[in-house]
Amino acid sequence: MSWSRISVYTAVVLLLSLLVAVISACAPQRGAPAPAVGPGETGFPKMTLKFNHVVARDTPKHKAAERFAQLVRERTNGAIEIQVFPNSELYKDGEEIEALQTGAIHFIAPGTDKFGVLVSEWEATALPYVFSSVEGFKQFEDPDNPVARELFEKLRPKGLLGLAIWENGWKHFSSSKRPLIVPDDFKGQKFRTSGKPDEAFVKALGGSAVVMAFSEVFSALQQGVVDGQFNTWNNIYTQKFHEVQRYATSSEGAVILLYGVATNAQWWDSLDSRTRQVLFEALKEATKYGNELAAEENRVAFEKIKASGRLEIHVQTPEEAALWRVAGEQVQREWVSQGRISQQTLQKLASLGKTR
Ligand code: SIN
Repeated sequence: MSWSRISVYTAVVLLLSLLVAVISACAPQRGAPAPAVGPGETGFPKMTLKFNHVVARDTPKHKAAERFAQLVRERTNGAIEIQVFPNSELYKDGEEIEALQTGAIHFIAPGTDKFGVLVSEWEATALPYVFSSVEGFKQFEDPDNPVARELFEKLRPKGLLGLAIWENGWKHFSSSKRPLIVPDDFKGQKFRTSGKPDEAFVKALGGSAVVMAFSEVFSALQQGVVDGQFNTWNNIYTQKFHEVQRYATSSEGAVILLYGVATNAQWWDSLDSRTRQVLFEALKEATKYGNELAAEENRVAFEKIKASGRLEIHVQTPEEAALWRVAGEQVQREWVSQGRISQQTLQKLASLGKTR
């Protein structure tokens, strides 16, 4: 074979190998993940995420969650879809934290007392009279607040990452038996509570209490399993608790219902930084929106409950509040002496909102 024939042959072989290499690089790889771009080539991974919660649609929590979903949808051009499941539709209390840990869902926003099953220090945020003022818990809700961030860090070893603090409002007692004015009135009455701090508060006031999932409260009240409950006007109205109760006491200043928005830490860490950023920024805006809504939603619910004429409502006087406070502060001391929380956390929470 002449040298010119050999070089033509070599060139053809090289060209063919190049062609094979290009074709196989373009062909879809079996078992490889789908291309990580959503509709409209946004550059965001295409994902459907689940946000589970236990309250009704007409609540600050659901509205904030929907706003979060809407902002994420808009900013990712539909690539990231967040489905919000209200009313314990997917998971109820006692289930949703575990579902988040296993990665079955992506976001939850339980009352902060409910993180107590993982880290008892969280219960400090739900103790009676723990915040000195409205400014105090408003400062706790600030995403840059170091006290909240410190508490969020404690959830990491449990597989959860805290992202934001949401608010509902002040909790108020109601009863089917008799008015609740002074601690003596709690004697012989049983209340449903959302967690251990409220349970201890009821006991310190002289009543008995049982921790129960939120989804079970209406029928427990209706069937007389418990005599009363402790919740925000917004939750009382949207769950129709007022329809199966006779008395209520407006007790602003005792216990504020705060929520911790959390995600699965491992899943969050697996996201690319741009996706994490878009989710975090949207959540920050939804947090501001929901937390500004809370007071008004509760005011409206209170008016509707009054207008329904179902409840005899007593508005607590400062003298009566002082008696309840004695019971609340006793619970704070118990929590520290039992080692459930530290004195430092209590002090940090109490000092929020105070000017130095
Ligand atoms: C909620 O607002 O998420 C429910 C609170 C409760 O369990 O009472």
